[in-house]
Amino acid sequence: MDELKKKIWSEYYQKVAANPHKQSTEKAVSLNLSDSLVALDCGCGTGSDTAYLLSQGYTVSAFDVNQESVEFCRKRFADETAVSIHCSGFESFTYPQAGLVVANASLFFAHPESFPVIWQKIRASIQAGGVFCGDFMGPDDEWLEDKSHILTPLSEQDVKALFEGFEILEFSERNRRGPTARGPEKHWHTFSVMARKSAI
Ligand SMILES: C[S@@+](CC[C@H](N)C(=O)[O-])C[C@H]1O[C@@H](n2cnc3c(N)ncnc32)[C@H](O)[C@@H]1O
Repeated sequence: MDELKKKIWSEYYQKVAANPHKQSTEKAVSLNLSDSLVALDCGCGTGSDTAYLLSQGYTVSAFDVNQESVEFCRKRFADETAVSIHCSGFESFTYPQAGLVVANASLFFAHPESFPVIWQKIRASIQAGGVFCGDFMGPDDEWLEDKSHILTPLSEQDVKALFEGFEILEFSERNRRGPTARGPEKHWHTFSVMARKSAI
């Protein structure tokens, strides 16, 4: 990762460090019908969702490709025994079986060439009755105009096709200008999904 990207992520982590967990994570916990209390936090950032999952009795495996995020989370959860924090990209992480996979505002940073394999690994890690919650990037997002960003854009149809064998419980699209955590506005185009894996 180049120095500019590191600086941008660092500013982002400082801005969001005290933020609470996402409401969607809370909802996902309530919808997990598997017998697994293992959760994965993919691209965990400063660990706000990990903190919530731990408070709900989950054993959490959290990972992020950014060393600063990993160091932050290792300090934040130093006294927790039910969490493991890994420095890993989506491509190389070994996904354990889980009842809950959370990928809030992270999976769209995967490399498009790796995305299909990553998605197969994520799908396979979710136990029957378990829940995925996370965000995908749509084709109108402003970041796609900047070729220095590595992103995986997907159409609504593409996103829905990922969830064959799941029941989509919530699906929402955001296609409008809005603030970024670091401040400046941009045009956002994202799809947020909550889906439960069907019994085989
Ligand atoms: C916008 S933050 C979201 C953090 C957290 N999920 C949240 O909602 O607060 C995106 C995170 O994804 C991580 N990320 C980006 N590319 C990644 C990759 N290829 N593998 C794993 N994590 C990645 C970033 O380092 C960053 O911490």
